[in-house]
Amino acid sequence: MSEGYVIPMLQSPRPTVYVETYGCQMNVSDTELMLGKLAESGYEEVAEPDNADVILINTCAIREHAEQRVIGRLGEMKSRMKRDAVVGVTGCMAQRLGSQLLDRVKHVSLVIGPDGYRDLPALIESARSGIRSTATDFDLEEHYEDFTPRRFDGVKAWIPVQRGCDYKCTYCIVPTTRGPERSRQLAEVIRETEAVVASGISEIVLLGQTVNSYFDGTHDFADLLRAVGSMPGVRRLRFTSPHPNDFSERVIRAMVETESVCEHVHLPMQSGSTRTLKRMLRRYTREGYLECVDELRAAITNVSLTTDVIVGFPGETEEDFEETLSVVRAVGFDDAYTFKFSPRDGTPATRFPTSETVSDEIASERLARLIATVRSGTRDRNMKLLGERREVLVEKAARRGGLLQSRTRDFRVVMIPGDASLIGKYLTVELTGTTGSTFIGKAVGQRASLPLAV
Ligand code: SAH
Ligand code: SF4
Ligand code: F3S
Repeated sequence: MSEGYVIPMLQSPRPTVYVETYGCQMNVSDTELMLGKLAESGYEEVAEPDNADVILINTCAIREHAEQRVIGRLGEMKSRMKRDAVVGVTGCMAQRLGSQLLDRVKHVSLVIGPDGYRDLPALIESARSGIRSTATDFDLEEHYEDFTPRRFDGVKAWIPVQRGCDYKCTYCIVPTTRGPERSRQLAEVIRETEAVVASGISEIVLLGQTVNSYFDGTHDFADLLRAVGSMPGVRRLRFTSPHPNDFSERVIRAMVETESVCEHVHLPMQSGSTRTLKRMLRRYTREGYLECVDELRAAITNVSLTTDVIVGFPGETEEDFEETLSVVRAVGFDDAYTFKFSPRDGTPATRFPTSETVSDEIASERLARLIATVRSGTRDRNMKLLGERREVLVEKAARRGGLLQSRTRDFRVVMIPGDASLIGKYLTVELTGTTGSTFIGKAVGQRASLPLAV
């Protein structure tokens, strides 16, 4: 055989994997890690479950409804999937239900909790030979540092800096499904940010359940903000979700003094009634929450605030709920994620006497009033912004109207005309119209890497 002659290899096609993700950004970030790991092991990602060799559902357990959806989806997939496909359930519902899921859903052969993804390729291999398994041990050292995430978003990067949660809010399943809080080493976060910036992404979102309680043994969240925020190429820095109790003066000062930190804070409130907050074990009062808002507003001009609110928590009276509405009005949130309380097995909130249960009818009615209150406040504030100019980062093509979706530093969505070549670019836009929640804008200048005076 002469040198240089290459024997064509008979390549067997790469195995394919389909992943469906539910729940919060932490789960999206975990899916990115899983797909990175599987790509390294030779898997090809596909967009449909029908012909995939491996189907993974990365699940959420936060509310009953989230779990029901997954059970429904697994049933639906059974009739469509390849007969020999390996089906795995990962994430928070997997952690919560463990091997019960294997008993309940016969075509599932893998149940893997949030700390078990390192063994994913090996577990899939054994599932192929018929071994069904559960991997739900917590691993307090696990941050998947050697994984290379397969990022979905080319414009912003989600970087987990913390896993688990040490708060024990009485309604919440997260401490059970994600275990105790642990923070990544600051140097590792920097390393990941460097790689992200090198790939051309300039907006970073730091992720954690109570992200501002970050502490790696040496550095706190203020250090982290300053370190990541001052890296060349990081133009916008966000974080989610902070806990109101962990906004120390140091953290607020770091936000103010780090130019890339955006003027938006998602500040979960849950309730505006001190009595309810106490029963939720949120560890702050109505006044404490409002103080935190005042401190943020005093330090960061025009900071935009969004929140999470639960209605119908056990024992919530009409007066308690009115207190929530009054804080919503007083603060003037720019958006709110609103939920009806959903009892989660094993959480302390399920142990309140049944006489305190708020009926679904009342909870639905409160939810509707809450949403209307949030919307009318947002509309009024947004109307006042018409005519102003803002820097936006173009995120993606909007679903309708051939428009692009872009975002201001203070987290407002602005739809603008333009073609896909603008995705990932910074523009200055004038806000010309609003639907009440989002804006229509027109570009008045394109910003290169250095801001132009406008
Ligand atoms: N760690 C974040 C929240 C994570 S869960 C924080 O503390 O803010 C996201 C939101 O889901 C919560 O803020 C809460 O509003 C809501 N949520 C959590 N458990 C819930 C339950 N049992 N029923 C209804 N909503 C719930
Ligand atoms: Fe759940 Fe509370 Fe932890 Fe947030 S802080 S994840 S609501 S226990
Ligand atoms: Fe759901 Fe788990 Fe996130 S319960 S909200 S996916 S941490």
